[in-house]
Amino acid sequence: ATPLRLGVAGLGTVGAGLITLLRDNADLITARAGRPVEVTAVAARDRNRDRGIDVTPFRWYDNATDLVSDPNVDVIVELIGGADGTARLLVESALTAGKPTVTANKALIALHGETLARLSERHKAPLLFEAAVAGGIPAIKTVREGLAADRILWIGGILNGTCNYILTAMRETGRDFADVLAEAQALGYAEADPSTDVDGIDAAHKLTILASLAFGNPIIFDSVHVEGIRHIGALDFSFARTLGYRIKLIGLARRNEYGIEARVAPCLIPEASPIAQVDGVFNAVITEGTFVGRLMVEGRGAGAGPTASAVAADLIDLARNTTAPVWGTSSSELKSVRSRPASER
Ligand code: NDP
Ligand code: HSE
Repeated sequence: ATPLRLGVAGLGTVGAGLITLLRDNADLITARAGRPVEVTAVAARDRNRDRGIDVTPFRWYDNATDLVSDPNVDVIVELIGGADGTARLLVESALTAGKPTVTANKALIALHGETLARLSERHKAPLLFEAAVAGGIPAIKTVREGLAADRILWIGGILNGTCNYILTAMRETGRDFADVLAEAQALGYAEADPSTDVDGIDAAHKLTILASLAFGNPIIFDSVHVEGIRHIGALDFSFARTLGYRIKLIGLARRNEYGIEARVAPCLIPEASPIAQVDGVFNAVITEGTFVGRLMVEGRGAGAGPTASAVAADLIDLARNTTAPVWGTSSSELKSVRSRPASER
């Protein structure tokens, strides 16, 4: 069978993880995809960096956007990161050239998802981003495909592995914030600029994506209320424990009488609640629909293996030609909406 040939831009935590997974699971991926899924070309900044993987079999590009014009690349896989700059240029030029594109870039989808959806539709080039929300949890498919028939009342959960890792370690061991953050960075969980994690922005990107899928219209990112975890200290954990709560960074979007309200903030969660038990790098996505009722999925929200698994699942969908529209509907039906807090009239 004709292989699906990939051009992978970005060979950091996720890029190297993807190449390892495609190698180690080649047999089962070929069987499930109906054809081999192979990397043919790659791009990153530093040719000489030791990445723990062999990149010599692949054609190397210093300029990631050159992957788009390579006739031996069928699919662009964007694993660079950042809402603008090279990542955005690459995805826009790939879609415009009609090349299917897979990305793990939540910042890009949260800020430019509507424009990209229109490009994807106009040029008949699927754009997939399962890895952009909650690492290894199939969160996008759960909401867009699995819950496609239901009316979602609210959606949210623990959406940042780095913050949950930090809050868990601080609570359990009393360790210092900066010390645990450095560990999360070394484990490959944190964003290139970790303030994106600890200031709640990454969780807000993911909430924006989930809410856009759940409520059927792209949510304007700038309207989402965002608080992070920098100010949380030993005294907060001590009070929370005494009162029978755990501190979690929660993203939540719900319908209110004015439209959709989306917010990210540290919250006190009763210790006995299932979401309070989600610790370490684990994330949880929880939603409630009118017919399905409540649903919760939990899993590793960051790191090479879980994220590579989500990227590769998108590649299998592409190889099988079973892809959904970016926001689950035709882009002519999309209308961006602002988050409107219940207090706003
Ligand atoms: P890393 O910082 O580990 O890797 C980024 C890679 O991009 C590096 O290989 C870097 O090259 C390359 N790169 C940077 N700038 C350019 C450029 N201008 N042209 C070509 N290549 C470039 O990031 P991650 O792998 O952690 O994250 C990648 C994406 O996946 C991000 O969008 C992130 O938000 C997302 N993501 C990450 C998760 C995680 O757990 N880490 C989980 C879910 C999503 P070089 O190596 O040469 O410096
Ligand atoms: N920095 C992100 C996190 C990576 O910690 O959750 C996964 O999206």
